[in-house]
Amino acid sequence: MTIQTVATTPFAGQRPGTSGLRKKVTEFQQPGYLENFVESIFLTLGEGACRHLVVGGDGRYFNRDAIQTILRMAAAHGVERVLVGQGGILSTPAVSCVIRKHGAQGGIVLSASHNPGGPDGDFGIKYNIDNGGPAPEKITDAIFAHTQTVTQYRISDAPAVDLDVLGTTQLENMVIEVIDPVADYAELMKGLFDFDAIRGLFASGFRMRFDAMHAVAGPYASTILEGILGAPAGTVVNGVPSEDFGGGHPDPNPVNAAELIAAMAAPDAPDFGAASDGDGDRNMIVGRGIAVTPSDSLAIIAANATVAPGYAGGIKGIARSMPTSMAADRVAEALGIACFETPTGWKYFGNLMDAGLVTLCGEESYGTGSFHIREKDGVWAVLFWLNLLAVRGQTVEQLLAAHWARFGRNYYSRHDYEAVDAGAAGAMMDALRARLPELAGQTLAGHQIALADDFAYTDPVDGSISTKQGIRVIMADGSRIVFRLSGTGTEGATVRVYLERYEADPAHHNLDTQAALQGLIDLAESLSDLRQRTGRSEPTVVT
Ligand code: G6P
Ligand code: ZN
Repeated sequence: MTIQTVATTPFAGQRPGTSGLRKKVTEFQQPGYLENFVESIFLTLGEGACRHLVVGGDGRYFNRDAIQTILRMAAAHGVERVLVGQGGILSTPAVSCVIRKHGAQGGIVLSASHNPGGPDGDFGIKYNIDNGGPAPEKITDAIFAHTQTVTQYRISDAPAVDLDVLGTTQLENMVIEVIDPVADYAELMKGLFDFDAIRGLFASGFRMRFDAMHAVAGPYASTILEGILGAPAGTVVNGVPSEDFGGGHPDPNPVNAAELIAAMAAPDAPDFGAASDGDGDRNMIVGRGIAVTPSDSLAIIAANATVAPGYAGGIKGIARSMPTSMAADRVAEALGIACFETPTGWKYFGNLMDAGLVTLCGEESYGTGSFHIREKDGVWAVLFWLNLLAVRGQTVEQLLAAHWARFGRNYYSRHDYEAVDAGAAGAMMDALRARLPELAGQTLAGHQIALADDFAYTDPVDGSISTKQGIRVIMADGSRIVFRLSGTGTEGATVRVYLERYEADPAHHNLDTQAALQGLIDLAESLSDLRQRTGRSEPTVVT
């Protein structure tokens, strides 16, 4: 075995997006493509700075190949110890948990999250730092800079490591430990939630359907729900991770998890439904005949946090991404705690949690989590809801209605226009931006505009500034329209339009969401000319 230095030339477009570098598998399969990016990670960290690393992924196509390459490169860069999930499997929250628990300097997550997988699907790679969270922008910017100038990479020529057998192997001077992907994570959950209460709930005949969407949450949900908590066999469906997620789109929203939504609307529906995404960090919570919006889920978790032993002392603060509805702000106000508004991307929550300013975080994009790790956490959110249902003895529907009655309802929807022409999408945003100064104070189609700006964020902990994070048009009554370009798409541009309207009166809490938002939908179109500019007559996905 020797360490080789291989000459290489830069690839264009290796800038990490909202959550790491995501590209088509075929792009990653080009010789040197993955190697250049991994070399750039090591160049950014500095020689010998990373001695202890965690590596794992969501099991999608190319996961195992990528891990073998990363291990051979890690051995060539002075890494002394690597923890790898068995079979190359580690959910994103589990990577965060393992980094923190074992004091690793960082981790490499192989996933394109909820994007489809398989030979024609997407792949992704992301670096997480020693707090267990995604690398902040100054690190991802440095990685990108290195990808533009990289001239060589170092790699061992050692043979492939057996990832399926638990235990340790030596590769050059580096020890590789293949670990049980679920054990550390399950132990962490046991410390946060009232497992006895949840066990009692299942023992009383409570029925649940957890749709793992053929993705990485399967083993976690099966072990914890069916194994530890005594849920009946069959509670977890689509629970075996497959390289192409069963040909599906592993995104837990009502459109892509339509099977779960249908099961929860059937006459014999279980009491509780949930789904998770490709890498296990997203979640959707579903009651009988109703999906809980992620924004409401965050607000409800915050309002009821103390039911779970891990949060019995109360919460310090909440953070939500800017396009997430303001339902959590109302809870924060009632609790007398701060609610931070950050740009889209879980990485923005890291500093707030590290500084002890917030306990709970959430995003409209089906992400919820807490300071127990530094990633959002799908199974964690589901366990919180189970704990809540067990303690309160109410249904999801009753909990929602009670929450709205107390705090009011924030009707909320996101309209996505996927894979549109990037030039047209950019031109639409530029045109909107140009109109911003004149919008405030105008009344358009009965909506009085109070504020219109391009969201900028100054991190209260390190003072770093992020600009152009989404155009927001806020009405005098608190309703909002937000326009943003996705940072996670891999084809053309994806335009997201986020719509929100507040309704205090319980008599109006059971409207159809799209109907409740129709006025804002029309206003969004007239402000942006979105349909004409993109040539689309309707959104690709409405959630
Ligand atoms: C990933 C990130 C989230 C983000 C989401 C949507 O899941 O981890 O933090 O909210 O992508 O990002 P996008 O840029 O596509 O709206
Ligand atoms: Zn994900």
